Amino acid sequence: MAIIEHSVNTEKWPIAPHVADLESSIIREILKISSQPGVISFAGGLPAPELFPLDDLQQAMEDSVRKYKDACVQYSLTRGIVPLRELMAERTTERGTATEVDNLIITSGGQQAIELISCAFIAPGDYIITENPTYVGALQAFNLYQARYAPVEMDDEGMIVDMVEENIRKFNPKLIYTVSNFQNPTGITMSRARREALIDVANRYDIPIVDDDPYGDIRFAGESQPTLKSMGGDTVIAVHTFSKVIAPGLRIGWMNGPKDFIGHIEKIKQCVDLHTNTLCQYMIYEFVKAGKLEPHIEKIKVDYRTKRDAMLETMRETFPAGVKWTEPEGGLFLWVELPQHMSAKDLLPKAVEMKVAYVYGQPFHPDGQGVNTLRMNFSNASLENIKKGTARLGKLISENI
Ligand SMILES: Cc1ncc(COP(=O)(O)O)c(C=O)c1O
Repeated sequence: MAIIEHSVNTEKWPIAPHVADLESSIIREILKISSQPGVISFAGGLPAPELFPLDDLQQAMEDSVRKYKDACVQYSLTRGIVPLRELMAERTTERGTATEVDNLIITSGGQQAIELISCAFIAPGDYIITENPTYVGALQAFNLYQARYAPVEMDDEGMIVDMVEENIRKFNPKLIYTVSNFQNPTGITMSRARREALIDVANRYDIPIVDDDPYGDIRFAGESQPTLKSMGGDTVIAVHTFSKVIAPGLRIGWMNGPKDFIGHIEKIKQCVDLHTNTLCQYMIYEFVKAGKLEPHIEKIKVDYRTKRDAMLETMRETFPAGVKWTEPEGGLFLWVELPQHMSAKDLLPKAVEMKVAYVYGQPFHPDGQGVNTLRMNFSNASLENIKKGTARLGKLISENI
């Protein structure tokens, strides 16, 4: 059979400017570099692969096929399969956030929830209040809708809420986006007082808060904070995911919001993908219903705590004076501030030469600041590599300070 040679020049296709101008995620670019053989990577946000509950997931898949037969691979509801939403509503209510089935929609990971929320709220040029720094993947989704940013500085209690009010007055934002627990990228958790203040200001100006919360369940030290959703009710749209506590490749997350708002999200999701993968929803349902989730989370916490401790200990031993870092009580990341004159971006090629990688902090900053910052992940590498890689970084920073 003859192969027809096409001569179309796709570079001349009229790609819409808001797509042509999108930047590829810097993290994905760095992940390419850091996946070179022998490089110890603290760059990604990947869970520990050796902890994936493969046997239990296999069991959950077999149970799903056996019990639900054709239904588990058939088209299903846009909002998500009813048993999973019922189970999640029950679990969320038991844990202090009153939730009904109609408050929930299952999404393809938390990332899709953020994208759907952006689609619902953002017209080109609208402002969003974010933490500075914030999660890069959210910025990418917001950028797709041509949002502008009113970033708010953080301290060790989270977003500085006085600045939120100032930014609301100046920019009339459409929403406030926060990662309140063990934030990506800093590892910082919002204090109770800040939570109260944030909800108060959002209520006074009638602005929704989006609380993106993939890490809240992974607290391995300190005291739990009540969720923004439990405190703020319909003011808050909470975004959650099973990516970090079960496995990201299943792509199952969910949104908990006011019922009428979830109705709008449902319409958008119909346009985007009709519904989330049916089989993976049943698998997660079977996994959670069989009581596998809580013990699995406990296992993850022990592992990540040990790894965080090892990273912090090696940092104390090898990082030079003048470098600061966060000590998170959960989650997957910690955040490093080099002295002002240093560039974490310029240092990265030398780090990769020394076979260690991280993500430099500037792309997490909507205001383009943070040249001297970087993020380190402590969930993915082995304990031995965490010690080795952190010591290499300590040496590199000491040599370049
Ligand atoms: C703050 C935050 N939100 C959302 C996501 C996306 O998670 P998912 O795999 O559920 O799409 C991540 C992933 O790293 C994250 O850190």
